Amino acid sequence: MKEEKGLKEEKDMKGDKGMEEEKKQERKKVILSGIQPTGIFTLGNYIGAIRNWGTMQEEYHCAYFVADLHSLTVRQEPAALRRQSLEAFALLLACGIDPEKSLVFIQSHVHSHAELSWILSCYSPFGALSRMTQFKDKSARHADNVNAGLFTYPALMAADILLYQPDYVPVGEDQRQHLEFTRDIVEHFNGIYGNVFRMPEAYIPKTGARVMSLQDPTKKMSKSDTNPNAFITILDEPNVIVNKFRRAVTDSETEVCFREGKDGINNLMTIYSVITGLSFEQIEKDFAGRGYGDFKAEVGDAVAEKLRPIRENFARLMQDKAYLEQQYRKGAEKAAAISERTLAKVKKKVGLLMP
Ligand code: TRP
Repeated sequence: MKEEKGLKEEKDMKGDKGMEEEKKQERKKVILSGIQPTGIFTLGNYIGAIRNWGTMQEEYHCAYFVADLHSLTVRQEPAALRRQSLEAFALLLACGIDPEKSLVFIQSHVHSHAELSWILSCYSPFGALSRMTQFKDKSARHADNVNAGLFTYPALMAADILLYQPDYVPVGEDQRQHLEFTRDIVEHFNGIYGNVFRMPEAYIPKTGARVMSLQDPTKKMSKSDTNPNAFITILDEPNVIVNKFRRAVTDSETEVCFREGKDGINNLMTIYSVITGLSFEQIEKDFAGRGYGDFKAEVGDAVAEKLRPIRENFARLMQDKAYLEQQYRKGAEKAAAISERTLAKVKKKVGLLMP
């Protein structure tokens, strides 16, 4: 019954013709993801996420945004947050996200996110929010600032996602639980009100790779690592990149091969393979008998070369603030138009009087 009602409404909105059209041609799937503006992205962010965001633009309708509201859950220096938000936006463009093809915007510029977040927080069970490992971790790490935003963070993330009715959401391991939480909300909400939200799925990239710390290859590469040699940012100068790879922690053997227990070498091989497109087999062959020193130097060079155009694009974009402003305003306008449709539907369903 409920399902029927949902479908009927959709039909009313689009008209019979629209529905038929949609049936005839395969609908282009929608992808959405966000990233917090808490520092220059690392090689890990690039290889694990943003590189794929660019390549998905042809196949999907993509929406990418700078999640500045989420960053407020931990105390930020206002001027730094503003600068980092602009930089994060510029970095997305510098990495190849094309605002002509994709929707790119800054979360706080689009009012519907905060608004739907409130509504969804009223459908977020306290118990489920308390079980979020990120909440538990962050409240332990910031014991002096365990605030309500940190607790309801997943409701805001659910709003970010559901406003755009995406099919897929590329997220790292650390955000999986929040996506599951979003899916639970969809089930709960649609169960009460009919077919309001599309059920989002995690997107597993075909060539996904987890990049580990260069200093402790059992840990994920993180921009908040206290040891700057542990991570590469995508704006590091070539000589810095080469030096960090030269210092990368490996093992006491000499042979470049991918094997269990060789975490350092496995990490370097993964990075090199993603950057060059060479298979592990080919890499092993190319470096047979050459030792780690040679290999590390080549990995450093390859990464430095790959990141060079991104660094140059970024520098150019940051020289042109007017262009960046124009792009994020355009993005916000488009995002508002799309998201407000979902928001209006939700408001009607839950019983808010339409203005
Ligand atoms: N919470 C995510 C992170 O810290 C960022 C984010 C916010 C996000 N909203 C999102 C990611 C919606 C995917 C979809 O990495």
